Amino acid sequence: MKKIRVLTGVTPSGVPHLGNYVGAIRPAIAASQNPDVESFLFLSDYHALIKCHEPERVHESTKAVAATWLACGLDPERTTFYRQSDVPEVMELNWILTCNTAKGLMNRAHAYKAAVQDNVEKGQADQDHGIEMGLFCYPVLMSADILMFNADKVPVGRDQIQHLEMARDIAARFNHRFGTLFTLPEVQIDDNVETLVGLDGRKMSKSYGNTIPLFDSDKKIQKAVNKIVTNLKQPGEAKAPDESPLFDIYKAFSTPDETAEFTHMLAEGLAWGEAKKLLAAKINAELSPKREHFEALMANPALIEDILQAGAAKARRQAQPLLAAVREAVGIRRLS
Ligand code: ADP
Ligand code: TRP
Repeated sequence: MKKIRVLTGVTPSGVPHLGNYVGAIRPAIAASQNPDVESFLFLSDYHALIKCHEPERVHESTKAVAATWLACGLDPERTTFYRQSDVPEVMELNWILTCNTAKGLMNRAHAYKAAVQDNVEKGQADQDHGIEMGLFCYPVLMSADILMFNADKVPVGRDQIQHLEMARDIAARFNHRFGTLFTLPEVQIDDNVETLVGLDGRKMSKSYGNTIPLFDSDKKIQKAVNKIVTNLKQPGEAKAPDESPLFDIYKAFSTPDETAEFTHMLAEGLAWGEAKKLLAAKINAELSPKREHFEALMANPALIEDILQAGAAKARRQAQPLLAAVREAVGIRRLS
């Protein structure tokens, strides 16, 4: 049976937090262990340039994100793990696809429309004020990432559904014009993936500044956990799970039995301070061994680089024959 090819990209734009771990890293690594699946995971560093013009940040984040995924158990033997910018075939395909993409399709992209809306609301005379071409063309690059490997399924968050629809549109137009070369990718949304709440009860996100670090010292994790909002209930007073985001975070790191036990302890009057100690211990129990691995990798960037280079070589072997067929199809050919 032909294996299903699953591909996804991770943009290196910061240091991963606990929400990224629960909502993206942990489920993706579990899914990559399915023997019926051929998985591809890449660091979309060219996508990072869309929002970030700080070279050191892009560079540091690429290292931290690669080390995080490896430390969390991504097996580079099983998953083709590479950095987008190490596969120049993707960029070449990006241009060919750009020449086959309707501008009107890009005008409808949510990210671009949101930026325009922002200008309108601020009363800017030019609705494109400050908007760069990277943001505008971003769905084409994402299509190239996906189509270059003829991915069958692309697991993403809900905010990316429109980009997958665009990738299908772009592939269909190309196939119609030049012959069928591209697989139409399907979006894969995992309804079981949890959204982790942050310290203040909103979604944990770097943009809200309410995150718990993924790999930091036990002390720093405890310090972040101590900031989780609770109420004024005293030790001994019964507490319900919905009275603090602490409970949902605890649940994300526990078995159903452990969660039931924690619910019981809160109902029996467990002090918030004690509950926070239990939570920090729970997080540390799952993450401490991974943190050691992370730190070892961060101290040895050459090892990460070697892994990424080997991944890129594997990825390029897959990409080259398809790119050759695409070039041939559009008329970019040798003369003799
Ligand atoms: P942030 O919101 O901190 O900027 P990103 O948008 O970079 O996070 O998210 C990267 C990945 O992590 C995405 O797959 C996203 O769905 C997942 N993710 C981010 N925050 C959470 C969260 N609080 N709960 C679950 N998944 C999350
Ligand atoms: N745009 C995605 C995000 O912000 C990351 C990404 C880039 C991606 N290229 C991709 C995801 C291709 C899936 C497939 O989360």
